[in-house]
Amino acid sequence: MHMSLPQRFPPPVTARKSPISRLRNIITIVAATFFVLIFFLAIKFYLPSTQSFIHIENSPTPTTATAAVAPEPPQKNLEPIHEDKPVPSLIPDIFNPPTPSIERLSINDGDSLILTGVKNGTKWHSASRPPARKDCWSYTARFKPYISPSEEVLDLISNNNKPTNNRTFIVRLSTGHPWKKEFNLHARAIVLEAGLANYDVFFLVHTDLSSSKRKKWIKDHVPKEFRNLTQTFSTQDIKNWLNGTAPFKNIMENNHLALQMFVTNNKQYDFTYSIESDVRLIGRWDEFLTDIDNEYKSHRERQEPDQDMPETPDLVTFEALKRPGKEWVWLDDKCIKDFEGREDLRTSIGPMWGWSRRLIEKMNEYNAKGVDCYYEYFAPTIAYKENLTTFFYQHPIYCPRKSASGKHSLKLEELGKNDPRTVQYDKVPTGCTYFFVNPHSQAFWDQWYKARKNPDSCWPTALVHPIKGEFFN
Ligand SMILES: *[C@@H]1O[C@H](CO)[C@@H](O)[C@H](O)[C@H]1NC(C)=O
Ligand SMILES: *[C@@H]1O[C@H](CO)[C@@H](O)[C@H](O)[C@H]1NC(C)=O
Ligand SMILES: *[C@@H]1O[C@H](CO)[C@@H](O)[C@H](O)[C@H]1NC(C)=O
Ligand SMILES: *[C@@H]1O[C@H](CO)[C@@H](O)[C@H](O)[C@H]1NC(C)=O
Ligand SMILES: *[C@@H]1O[C@H](CO)[C@@H](O)[C@H](O)[C@H]1NC(C)=O
Repeated sequence: MHMSLPQRFPPPVTARKSPISRLRNIITIVAATFFVLIFFLAIKFYLPSTQSFIHIENSPTPTTATAAVAPEPPQKNLEPIHEDKPVPSLIPDIFNPPTPSIERLSINDGDSLILTGVKNGTKWHSASRPPARKDCWSYTARFKPYISPSEEVLDLISNNNKPTNNRTFIVRLSTGHPWKKEFNLHARAIVLEAGLANYDVFFLVHTDLSSSKRKKWIKDHVPKEFRNLTQTFSTQDIKNWLNGTAPFKNIMENNHLALQMFVTNNKQYDFTYSIESDVRLIGRWDEFLTDIDNEYKSHRERQEPDQDMPETPDLVTFEALKRPGKEWVWLDDKCIKDFEGREDLRTSIGPMWGWSRRLIEKMNEYNAKGVDCYYEYFAPTIAYKENLTTFFYQHPIYCPRKSASGKHSLKLEELGKNDPRTVQYDKVPTGCTYFFVNPHSQAFWDQWYKARKNPDSCWPTALVHPIKGEFFN
C-alpha cells in the first residue's frame, strides 16, 4: 500500500488555537495511528510462515475465559465443522481461568518447535496432528491463577462438586504420592477447569491403611482444599466388591476395578474420565475436554448407516488401539481363551481414559462371569466384543525426531462395529510425549518448566505422560 500526505493539509498555525488547528491535531493523530497499524500489518505479513513458532500477539490480561476455537477433525479431506461454540459455564467472578499470552500462527505435521529461553533445548517435531487451538502457553501463564489462590478460590475447589453434574473426572493416586507444590498447581487446575465444564472431581487414593489411619493420612498429606474431594479404597475393598467372582492379582494390573466400584456406587455419573497421577496437560482442561466432545460429535455425524454410535462414546482412549503382540508380558492364557483368541484383543495405554456407565456395567458383567484381565486390554476388548463405541481422540504429540516412537496396528476393518471410521488410523503415530515411559515426555515438560521465566517461551496444547519424580508430584 502507498500513502502520501493529503495535499489540502492546512499549513501550520502557530498564533492561536483555531478550530483548524484542533482539526489538524485530530487528523495528525488519525494519520499516525493509521501508519502505525500499516506498519504492524506489514511486519506481520513479512514474517516467514515456515517458522511456526512465532508469537504474534501479546493480548492484554483478560478477565473472562477466552472464546473457544471450534476444533477441526484431524482429517484434512473433510469439510470444516461449523458448530456453535459451546456455551461456557458460568465463571464465578472470583476465579479467572488462565489465558496464554501468546498465539502462534500454525503448527503442521512435521513442524519443529523451538522453546526459547532454555539452554540446549531439544528441537521437537509435531508428529501426530496439529493442536486444535492456537494457544501457546508458558509454564507461568498456564499455572498463574493457581499459585496463590484467594480463600474464595480455595473454597470453590472444596465445593466444586454439584448434585447436577452427571460427569466426573477422577485422579488416581496412591499414598506414596508426595503432593508437592507443582503437583498442587496441577491439581487445582484440574478441579477448577474440569469444574468449568461441569465435571465433579475426585482424588481417588489407593491405601491399605486402617480407616482411622486413612483419615490421618489425608489430613497429614492432602492440602486442605482437596480433602472434600478425596476418597480412599483398599485392596480389601476391591476384593470384597469383586466377591471372588473373577481372578484378582493386584491393584496395578487391575486398575479398572477401582473405577468400576466407584461408578457402581455413585449412580449420578453417566460418564467418567480417569487419569493417573503422572498425566499432565499443557492447555486448559475445560477446553481440552470440550474439544474431545466436539470432535466425537463430528465423527458421529459422519457415521455410516450400519453404525449406531451413542451420544457419548463408551470408551475414550488417547492412544490408538492396537492388537497386543504375541510376546506381550501382560497377556494371559485364560484371558486369551475367555476372549476367544488373540485376534479379538484390543489394547491401548491407559494413563487417561473416558468410560461410559454402559461400558462399566459390561465390565461388571464380565467380572461376574469370571473374566478379568490386565487393565490395558480388559476394557478395550470388552468394548470391541460388545459393539460399544471406542473413540480414539488423536491429540498432538511431539518427538525429538521427525518420526514417532510407535505405531498402531489395526486396519480400518478391524475397528469395532460402532467405532468412528473417519479417524485416519493410517496416519496415527504414537509415543514420544504420550507414552508408557518418560524419556521424551519428561524432557518436554522439564524444558518447558526451565523456561518458565521467559514469557516468550511457550508450548502448544499437549497431553503429556508420564511426568515422574518428586519435584513435579
Ligand atoms: C550445550 O551444548 C554445547 C554445544 O553443543 C555444549 O558444549 C554444552 O556442554 C551443552 N551444555 C549443556 C548444559 O548440556
Ligand atoms: C465440604 O463440603 C461440604 C458439603 O458437602 C461443605 O459443607 C463444606 O464446607 C466443605 N468443606 C470445605 C473445606 O469447604
Ligand atoms: C458374594 O458371593 C456369594 C457367594 O456366591 C453370594 O452369596 C453373595 O450374595 C455375594 N455378595 C455380593 C455382595 O454380591
Ligand atoms: C448429562 O446431562 C446433560 C445436561 O443435563 C445431558 O444433556 C446429558 O445427556 C446427560 N448425560 C451425559 C452422559 O452427559
Ligand atoms: C456385534 O455386531 C456384529 C455385526 O453386526 C454382530 O454380528 C454381533 O452379533 C454383534 N455382537 C453383539 C455382542 O451385539
